[in-house]
Amino acid sequence: MSTTQKRIGILTSGGDCPGLNAVIRGAVKSATQLGYDVVGFLRGYEGLVDPVSYVPLNYMNTAGILTQGGTILGSTNKGRFGAKSGVDDKVQISEDLLRAVKVTLNQLNLSGLICIGGDGSLEIAQQFHEYGLPVVGVPKTIDNDLSATAYTFGFDSAVSSATDALDRLHTTAASHERIMVLEVMGRHAGWIALHAGIAGGGDVIIIPEIGWNFDHVCHKILDRESQGKRFTLIVVAEGAELPDGELVVQHQGEENQQVRLGGIGHYISKQIETRLHRETRCVVLGHLQRGGPPTTFDRVLATQFGAHAVRLIVEGKLGQMICFRPPNMENVPISEAVNRLSQVDPQGAAVQAARALGISFGDSSTRQSPFRPLPQNSQDSADTSDIYDTIQDLADSVTALSSAE
Ligand code: F6P
Repeated sequence: MSTTQKRIGILTSGGDCPGLNAVIRGAVKSATQLGYDVVGFLRGYEGLVDPVSYVPLNYMNTAGILTQGGTILGSTNKGRFGAKSGVDDKVQISEDLLRAVKVTLNQLNLSGLICIGGDGSLEIAQQFHEYGLPVVGVPKTIDNDLSATAYTFGFDSAVSSATDALDRLHTTAASHERIMVLEVMGRHAGWIALHAGIAGGGDVIIIPEIGWNFDHVCHKILDRESQGKRFTLIVVAEGAELPDGELVVQHQGEENQQVRLGGIGHYISKQIETRLHRETRCVVLGHLQRGGPPTTFDRVLATQFGAHAVRLIVEGKLGQMICFRPPNMENVPISEAVNRLSQVDPQGAAVQAARALGISFGDSSTRQSPFRPLPQNSQDSADTSDIYDTIQDLADSVTALSSAE
């Protein structure tokens, strides 16, 4: 490989998501037009150090990848470059590792390295920048939880998968008169649950940003029954805390790794069955939200991110991250982009619209049907006999109404 040819490196780090290949393609095509060669490092930051592993990327071997899910370069959220274990944690990358990365970049004569990743991966890019390495960042995550950008690619695709799941759950829930709980990803942000819940006609949306309790969820279910709707769709974000503030986790996570969230959907489902004696089923959508082709929106966003990341390198705007601030593509220092979690605004337009439609967030602001008010001073651990009385009341009011017609 010539040591004088202008060259750009690119890597994909952290959890995969639809649109990574579209960024790679966008970067390769635009870099090639500008006279740069491109190399892609394999398995995220791991490919930068012993054993250094990369592939030359060009028009030929990136053809057709626009629509492919995953990443042709591979990715990992484990290994030697763990820079975070929690929301505010920071793990310093060792000097030895940084020096080894520098040697690789120098040997390949790289003008810049495009690091595509979420919060944790961009934290690593920031440490590279502070060490003097020529990096630019591209924000990626299905969680959409980076505050510097209006959207990350992968989010729209994940919402689309979750919405499709809700569409399917809707018909089976209605046929069997069941309560269906769909647990979606998103870590500590409720964006996926909120958007899919609205798009998929969810009746209850439980997200980390809005405190909730079982009483309100159960009353929403009963309220729907009172209107003759004997099924309910509940969407819950994996990172929503239980009413007592506890986070449901699958695995605490090894050193330098984030906890693996998950399990709240099953917990809610069991509680509903116990409290209401209604058939309830839970579906954990999991990694289906991360696989498959990107949506049109994500293809456009990812392609723009790829081309603009190359532009940043060409313009010498190192240490910057591309961000989408509609209608513009802008850039911010990576340092300003990391550690700033973007969460759903409980007073925001989407939540307001959902509430206006009668969607419950499991909190006291839930709008009830005109049939009956919420019982006063209801406790989270409601006695089920009260609930049966309530059901009877509701049935009575429905009967009274229909005989009045
Ligand atoms: O950050 C993306 C994400 O998919 C989260 O929504 C989820 O909590 C996590 O990654 C799952 O990670 P893993 O692939 O390690 O199970």
